Amino acid sequence: MQTVTTIEALRQAVDELRAPHGGTAAATLALVPTMGALHEGHLTLVREAAKRADHVAVSIFVNPRQFGPNEDLDAYPRQLAQDAAQLEAQGVALLWAPGVAAMYPAGYATNVSVAGVSAGLCGADRPGHFDGVATVVLKLFNQVRPDLALFGEKDWQQLAVIRRMARDLDLMQPHVDAILGVPIVREADGLAMSSRNAYLSPADRAAAATLPLAMREAVARIADGQDATSTLAALEDALLGAGFASVDYAELRDADTLAPLDADNRNARLFVAARIGGTRLIDTMAIG
Ligand code: PAF
Repeated sequence: MQTVTTIEALRQAVDELRAPHGGTAAATLALVPTMGALHEGHLTLVREAAKRADHVAVSIFVNPRQFGPNEDLDAYPRQLAQDAAQLEAQGVALLWAPGVAAMYPAGYATNVSVAGVSAGLCGADRPGHFDGVATVVLKLFNQVRPDLALFGEKDWQQLAVIRRMARDLDLMQPHVDAILGVPIVREADGLAMSSRNAYLSPADRAAAATLPLAMREAVARIADGQDATSTLAALEDALLGAGFASVDYAELRDADTLAPLDADNRNARLFVAARIGGTRLIDTMAIG
């Protein structure tokens, strides 16, 4: 695996990887964008990428533009050597690990803002977050020019923002249909894997398992035709009763448009963000 930290070295490495071996067709390249602190969820993305392309590139960049002023940018776990070893073991060809100055050189002034799907849910609780995500992901796409890119479905709204951006800006590489969502990978007790789970104390980690449990119960009730408003209120009560400090949102939305729903529409998803011990956890599940 080659690790590169400058745009020039990245371009050269990508050109070398794409050079046709034997035949005339250029080799295909899949990108898995990450912020590092890799867990099984990320490694699943890498394995899915490897099934679909000749080579896999992974980016690790803790993107300051997607963190709010009072968020965990400084605390966010950084473990590049450990991450690199895991990626090497998965057969990843290229690790793109730029520093902040390589990604946002002095004088950097451009922002990508995707209206509509960025509003509400995490967009409401984290103003500017999705601008930061869209900006860095567009830069990563332009830097690596992958044939396809893979993202975890835990960040469902993020995926919707990226796909909207790809459509709106006529992205060719990766084309919108080549931006793939991969199902959430969960711990044995159902908690969705996240780099932020590492912040949880043992007691909070145990209580955090209530999130997927209560969500599954709510999903079953809504799919069964029970009233969504009272079901979501009961879900919030269950989380607060289990030790969550607050619930940022517990909402039913259309999976594609993210439009709010007050009942199952056969394409509904449940979205929850809740805070425990200072850590904000998110999760999403399809209804039915
Ligand atoms: O999901 C993430 O890890 C980040 O939001 C991403 C897509 C790598 C952009 O920084």
